[in-house]
Amino acid sequence: ANDLRLGVAGLGTVGASLVRLVSEKSDALARRCARGVRVTGVSARSRGRDRGIDLSGIAWFDDPVKLATSGEIDLFVELMGGDSGAAEESVRAALSSGKHVVTANKALLAKHGVELAKLAEENGVSLNFEAAVAGGIPIVKTMRESLAGNHVNRVYGILNGTCNYILTRMEREGLAFAECLADAQRLGYAEADPTFDIEGFDTAHKLALLTSLAFGCEIDAGAIYVEGISSITIADIEAADELGYRIKLLGVAQRTETGIEQRVHPTMVPKSSAIARIDGVLNAVAVDGDTVGEVVLVGPGAGGNATASAVVADIADIARGDRTPTLGKPAAELEPYKPAGMRKH
Ligand code: NDP
Ligand code: HSE
Repeated sequence: ANDLRLGVAGLGTVGASLVRLVSEKSDALARRCARGVRVTGVSARSRGRDRGIDLSGIAWFDDPVKLATSGEIDLFVELMGGDSGAAEESVRAALSSGKHVVTANKALLAKHGVELAKLAEENGVSLNFEAAVAGGIPIVKTMRESLAGNHVNRVYGILNGTCNYILTRMEREGLAFAECLADAQRLGYAEADPTFDIEGFDTAHKLALLTSLAFGCEIDAGAIYVEGISSITIADIEAADELGYRIKLLGVAQRTETGIEQRVHPTMVPKSSAIARIDGVLNAVAVDGDTVGEVVLVGPGAGGNATASAVVADIADIARGDRTPTLGKPAAELEPYKPAGMRKH
């Protein structure tokens, strides 16, 4: 009777993995959370599609907003994607009706994260987003909780699995950009619109969230200088190689004397550096804290199971009663974002 009941909207790469994971690990989850956790409702666009998961006994909702506000759920898991439309409407509806929300949707949070965090606080519920930044790497919790004793000066890293996968295969196998991108899409790494990956916007969304967590400021993805990897050729990669470098798409946020600088662009990194050795779908996030020094987390940045692993961690926190504010402190206490004079894109 005390079970945490989940409503999962979106049964694609991440959603289907999540439903499978919650079912397969139900005993371990129940022990860890000291209560049962089960999926009681789902929503997706096409009811007839075979997703390779068992949905028997789970209520189907054509409309994700109806699922979000249903009396059959306690926690709404948004895994549809998009910074407006069904994702935005259903997350707002869930929070307003007193349901906790877990989402992997960085595009939505980069645009509306502060208002949604306020809405969660007003309604006394949680809005968690571990999976939205660097897939399976537990960087949100690390920044929100484990690095609380630090003044962060810089956070940077490889934040997009699709781009790192493409650059790695172009370098190692001499494959064309388009072929590598098609494989990343087939493997479930890419966004529904892969322009977000290859033009750097997905990295920018994640960086904007990390910036807020690192510096306690409001989210401002529009302030980020963004350049993607779509114009990188094998000749560029070979030229970098001859000079002793690899090309990586980095997101960097740092404090400067005038404010905060945020940028996303392909970067030549020395082959001897740790970041140069992050290959394939792996991501890496480095945080420079004044007390601890540099902490680097490495792990799978995309893919169904890796991402579902992070979604489950958020669900488990809520099941256990953790109510850490979305961005580490109450939304009203976030400082305004102060840019360091970088140009807007
Ligand atoms: P997919 O495109 O694989 O799945 C999207 C799902 O949402 C589908 O099941 C689709 O239904 C459903 N959907 C879309 N629009 C609606 C709607 N209006 N009403 C109901 N259902 C809808 O996406 P992913 O699983 O790859 O990504 C989901 C989210 O997770 C995104 O926000 C993405 O950015 C994020 N993410 C993804 C990662 C990954 O590695 N893939 C990693 C980290 C975050 P149908 O199946 O019927 O078409
Ligand atoms: N498309 C994203 C990536 C998914 O490739 O990193 C994980 O956020």
